[in-house]
Amino acid sequence: MSLRISVIGTGYLGAVHAVGMAELGYSVVAVDVDEAKIAALARGEAPIYEPGLDELLLKHAESGQVRFTTDISEAADADVHFLCVGTPQRHDGLAADMTYVHAAVDALAPHLERPCLVVGKSTVPVGTAVPLAERLVKLAPIGSGAELAWNPEFLREGFAVEDTLRPDRLVFGVSSDEAEQQLRSVYASAIADGTPVVTADLATAELVKSAANAFLATKISFINAMAELAEITEADVTKLADAIGYDERIGRKFLNAGLGFGGGCLPKDIRAFMARAGELGAPHALSFLGEIDAINLRRRERVAELARELAGGSVAGRRVAVLGAAFKPQSDDVRDSPALSVAGQLHLEGAHVAVHDPRAMANARQVYPTLEYADTVTDACRGAHVVLHLTEWPEYRRIDPVELAEVVSARAVVDGRNCLDARAWRTAGWTYHGLGRP
Ligand code: UDX
Repeated sequence: MSLRISVIGTGYLGAVHAVGMAELGYSVVAVDVDEAKIAALARGEAPIYEPGLDELLLKHAESGQVRFTTDISEAADADVHFLCVGTPQRHDGLAADMTYVHAAVDALAPHLERPCLVVGKSTVPVGTAVPLAERLVKLAPIGSGAELAWNPEFLREGFAVEDTLRPDRLVFGVSSDEAEQQLRSVYASAIADGTPVVTADLATAELVKSAANAFLATKISFINAMAELAEITEADVTKLADAIGYDERIGRKFLNAGLGFGGGCLPKDIRAFMARAGELGAPHALSFLGEIDAINLRRRERVAELARELAGGSVAGRRVAVLGAAFKPQSDDVRDSPALSVAGQLHLEGAHVAVHDPRAMANARQVYPTLEYADTVTDACRGAHVVLHLTEWPEYRRIDPVELAEVVSARAVVDGRNCLDARAWRTAGWTYHGLGRP
């Protein structure tokens, strides 16, 4: 008989994972405490924009391959339970808020009357899983028949469906051979396609996720630190990235200098990782991540500074067009969006800020209701004294700088993602500023 799967938490990770498991042919029940979210998912409406998700959700919600419920007792029959709840940054500090992880285990455990595997996928501080496993055994009627494993998720927004169905690696943090075998059967098709598996203990599996995100953040801030130097020396950071990227030990990916990283993962995960190192008595081991965070935030200030310069010293009373609100393209996620952070700052300084984004305007409006939102690039740029290109949606690369020049008050553009055609914009009479480029 095919495996029965439950997914606890239907946020970004959970919604995609539930649908991905259904696509693999498993019978899935997905549980969340948020009634509105569950009702929408049951109608086949995804809570987020993610390429490919709508189609799969509709298909599997309609066929009943995945069911959505707020009643966690409906998860009781599953063979494998995936914990996919969020671990946001705590309001009172840098550490991860573990409330939802604990609440999920406390809610699920009393229903576990048959042997099963509970698999954590959320990003958690190293050292979470072992005590959680003990708590699970204590609360579950089946006792030690309920085992905990950790299988961190590495999905990227914008590629979440693809990354779920065809992961580049699988990490199984397990305490027994049985748990490993169960995870191998869940992911049998990816493993048959050649996806490498790293089997480890629980702590290593937890640590892998934090380490991977810390490394990616470091790579981005490294190149942005080079951009700071390039700005002083009139060097070109994009050429520098190409040149060092050809070294296979370095690699060109994640060396795009610009406005830096944002989103629901990298910023909060490096802060939580530092906080955990402190709790473990080794703050020095990760103190460099404080610098990574600082370099990243300085890029936002640098773009604001360029906007002020181009506006003649101050943006007060000036019109600023902001192209992009999502933290990255192919996403409507505005959590810790660098673009919106710059927009908000300039608004505070008295600028009239008009924002455009192909997908993220509804979410942006909720976080920054006082900004102006324009339906088209042209409307956003009408009368602008400065245009800021802050999220690299492909359509922004296709903007005709000659046509856009007709509607602005001044031809000044900051390319916060270094991907517009500088020559074409300059030829059209624009003052073009990249980041870390002459
Ligand atoms: C990240 C990790 O990549 C993923 O493995 C993990 O599971 C969750 O966190 P995501 O937040 O979707 O995924 O975005 P990612 O593609 O990693 O980009 C993060 C941020 O870095 C974005 O704001 C992006 O614009 C920025 N970035 C990325 C750069 O500034 N330069 C780069 O070269 C690459």
